[in-house]
Amino acid sequence: MPRQRVAILISGRGSNMDALIAATKQPDYPAEIALVLSNVPTAAGIEHARQMGIATAVVDHTTFGKDREAFERAVQAELEAHRIDIVCLAGFLRLLTPFLVRQWDGRMLNIHPALLPAFKGLDTHARALEAGAKQHGATVHFVVPEMDAGPILAQAAVPVLPDDTEATLAARVLAAEHQLYPQALRLLAAGRVTVRDGQCLVDGIPVSLPAGT
Ligand code: GRF
Repeated sequence: MPRQRVAILISGRGSNMDALIAATKQPDYPAEIALVLSNVPTAAGIEHARQMGIATAVVDHTTFGKDREAFERAVQAELEAHRIDIVCLAGFLRLLTPFLVRQWDGRMLNIHPALLPAFKGLDTHARALEAGAKQHGATVHFVVPEMDAGPILAQAAVPVLPDDTEATLAARVLAAEHQLYPQALRLLAAGRVTVRDGQCLVDGIPVSLPAGT
């Protein structure tokens, strides 16, 4: 099976992008990073991708005004030009409309810094602390038109410790994200994932949190 061509969409520092790129250097990894696309021209991650010799594109949403679909058509054109098979959102801070999401049904992943369905949206670490959660983590899920709501492909849990601050908790979750996203992409790119009734199956078995979490 040819390696799947993956685009990573970012808006900022791109540490999950780095983790995905590093993973694809393994000889048996079933995907390659064929494009890094940012909606923010100054995103640190895009410069880093360039330095690593990866094809990059910038589609600056501010040049499209309120026309979200025009922005998404420009993104889609880049994805098609680079013959992309799978899209990974990694800190991509634009809400996508059904127009783009539908084109990538079952082929677009996102990583969210919480154990969905808990703490959808922003400021997840602060909200987990505020809520007194004892367990927090990260989720890789398929993207659907509703925000942070698609079928869950993989989750990693981390403990919330008594003296945690937002920063210490965020760092613990981020380290887990860097393990989780490459594992999840590997499963999808290898063709081991199916979705049935809104639930992901890996090798035909419904996904669950790893034992002991
Ligand atoms: C991560 O915490 C990710 O879960 C969220 O945005 C952050 C992106 O960080 N969607 P980075 O740009 O990958 O370092």
